[in-house]
Formats: sequence, C-alpha cells, structure tokens
Amino acid sequence: MSRKVQFLASPGGRLQGVVRVPGDKSISHRSIMLGSLAEGITRVSGFLEGEDSLATLRAFRAMGVEIDGPQDGRVTIRGVGMSGLKAPGGPLDLGNSGTSMRLMSGLLAGQGLDVTLVGDRSLSGRPMKRVTEPLATMGAQIETAEGGTAPLHIRPVAGLEGMHYEMPIASAQVKSCLLLAGMYAKGETCVTEPAPTRDHTERMLQGFGYEVRRAGNRVCLRGGGSLQACDIDVPADISSAAFFLVGASIAPGSDLLLEHVGMNPTRDGVINILRLMGADIEVSNAREVGGEPVADLRVRSAPLKGIRIPQNQVPLAIDEFPVLFIAAACAQGETVLTGAEELRVKESDRIQVMADGLGALGVDARPTADGILIRGGGIGGGRVDSHGDHRTAMAFSMAALRASGDIVIDDCANVDTSFPRFVELASRVGSQLVSRHV
Ligand code: S3P
Repeated sequence: MSRKVQFLASPGGRLQGVVRVPGDKSISHRSIMLGSLAEGITRVSGFLEGEDSLATLRAFRAMGVEIDGPQDGRVTIRGVGMSGLKAPGGPLDLGNSGTSMRLMSGLLAGQGLDVTLVGDRSLSGRPMKRVTEPLATMGAQIETAEGGTAPLHIRPVAGLEGMHYEMPIASAQVKSCLLLAGMYAKGETCVTEPAPTRDHTERMLQGFGYEVRRAGNRVCLRGGGSLQACDIDVPADISSAAFFLVGASIAPGSDLLLEHVGMNPTRDGVINILRLMGADIEVSNAREVGGEPVADLRVRSAPLKGIRIPQNQVPLAIDEFPVLFIAAACAQGETVLTGAEELRVKESDRIQVMADGLGALGVDARPTADGILIRGGGIGGGRVDSHGDHRTAMAFSMAALRASGDIVIDDCANVDTSFPRFVELASRVGSQLVSRHV
C-alpha cells in the first residue's frame, strides 16, 4: 500500500536566521540540456537536486550522456555535441515536470530520434498542443494522446524549417521549446512574446556561445550553430525564496536573510508585488553570477495591505501566486488578481486549489475565471488538500505562521520536485512544521 505524505503545521512562530534555498529549477533543467548538447565538459554548481531537474538529468543519461553527480549540488556533464544523443531504450519518464517535457519536445523534435516522453498523472493532463502545434509547423512529427496531452511520441523527420512565431500566451516554456528546436532548423527561428517571460534560455544559449538576437519582445536565432561547454553557478531559486519572503513578512517578529537569490528581472514579480503590499524587503550585495543577477534579501515582518495586482507583474511572478495568496489572506483589505488564467493549468489548478484551501481555513477567497479576489483577515486552522502540487503545499505551510489553529496539508510528496528538505529548512528558521506518512 502506498503511503502519502502529509504536513502538519502548528500555528505561530517567527522566521529568523540566514538561509540559502536550493538552486533555481529553470536554470538547473537548462544546464543539463545545453551541457549535454555542448562540446566539452560543463561543470554545474548549485544544481537543484529536486525530482524535476533529476528527471531531466536521468533523461539525458538515458540518451547516452555521461553525467556525474549530483553531489552537493555539483554536476559534471560530458557533452556529446549537437547530434550526439542516442535513442533511449524506452520512454523517458519526466515525472511531474512540465519544463522537462515542453523544452525537450523542442530540443528533440529535429534530432532524427524516435523518443516517447511520458509523465505522471498531473503532467499527463497538462496542455501540450501549445508546443506540438508550432513544432508541427516547423516540420516536426509529434503524436499526442487525445486532447493534446502526453505521452508525446516524437518521430524522426528529415529536418525542420525555421519559423516566425507570435506566441498567443506569455510562456517561457513555449518560447524555449521553439528556440531549442530552432537550433536544428533551416534558417532563422524567431519568437515574439505578448509580455516578457523568463529569459534563462536566451541568457544560457549566449553563455554557451550560441548567437541569439533580441529586439524588443522578439528573440531570434539561426539553426546549425554549436554550443561550447561552460561552467554554471546556479543561483538560489527566487520561487523557493518566495515562501520565506511571505512567511517572514506575515509572522510578527521575523527577520530573515536569504542568500544568493536569483534576481533576474523576468522573475522578480514576487518582490515587486510584496513591496506594493507594504513588505519590508532589503536587497543587498547585488552582483552578477554567470550571466544572471543575484542578491541577498533581508525580509522583516511588516503590516501588509490588499492591492490590485498589476497585470504586467503576472508573468514575472507566475509561480509565486499560491504563496502570494497567503500574503493576501493576511493583508488588510482586498487583493484582486486578474489576467492569470495560466494558473489553472499548472501542476494543479492553482486558482481553485488555493481558493478551496483558503476557504477551508475560513478565509474569504473567491475564484474567478482568470484570477481570485481575497479579503484579508484571520486565518483559522483546518485541513487542506494540496492536490499533489508542491507550491500549494508549501504555501499552506507558511499560512500556519499566522493561523489560529493547526493546518493539516494532504498530498505533499511533490514538494520534493522543487524543494528537497523544505520541512527541515523551514523548521530550522522557525516554522513549526512536520512531515509524516499516512
Ligand atoms: C518555466 C516557465 C513557467 C513556469 C515553470 C518553469 C521555465 O511556465 O511556470 O515553473 O522554466 O521555463 P510557463 O512558461 O508555461 O508559464
């Protein structure tokens, strides 16, 4: 009988001390992908040893890439060059990881390999047509299950054609997928985005010596180039730091230092939004590490107020909304989010799952088609279901800092996808959190 992981978060506490949260998930995935295709040896430090990035690592191993580690965040990749991957012996299991599946569908589409990508129940329900349709226009042959979901069966094709694509949604995964496919396409591939999305792929391609041209909201590259190995120092993940930014903001008496946090301007919406709500976040020691801005963040508790979240911040904070909703529940007044329908197709329907959980804790939270309205006030104790979504599980863990009773959170095993040892780290700085198998 398989047992499930449940968190028990006791009320109260304050967050204090110094923490370095695990490495950035987006950058960790890309370090394996580009390192595998590069010529030479890529050495990565600060790699996220979470299930998602490990799924990518195992997939490239299964395609014949020699990868040592991870050990204490260190990974060594012996690149096989642009056309050195081998067909794997069976389907590649990408677990819960949307980034692995969407980016790899592009990276593999033009390689002449026969590969099947599979995922868990959540990933197998997520929309993949957003990548398979534009890839088909480039000449790829990818079969999906009915409804455009995984498994994805990538068939060998003679070659891809470059294309100019106007993305209908602001998605870094779609943009990255097409740029990776574009490296194997004839001519130029350009992607225009409706709003800025995370640009790690563009930055890292340049770091590996591949020419990428950016002008306004459009990014282009030409097929037929090559990648040269390089060293990568992965910053701490701002999406993981976000739980502590909110936790320390809402728990009276908190004073926490988060070290070496990735501060890419396409990812810092959580800081902008929290500051608009009145949070006290001090940025220091700003520096650049391997092409990515990094800083230390000191956060002290502060009274928060409800706001209307600016729409231009939505793609810049897309993964941080579950925990921002907890901040909203602790704020004075109403917080309104619109223009965030993408939240409905993440690892769970994050609008519904958070509204249900907040409701169970006595918070007035009303879901809308593309967002939510949350009236700040007290948070009660209760039992909530994370629906196997790492970020909703960690968000509700932070809610306990201001709750009046215990919060029991079901289905938390997937916290390991992005934040291994979350419970240990949160407990060390002052959360009263335990994990148990039920
Ligand atoms: C990611 C992009 C985002 C984000 C995901 C990671 C990436 O997805 O939600 O967690 O690494 O490119 P979308 O681009 O689909 O919004």
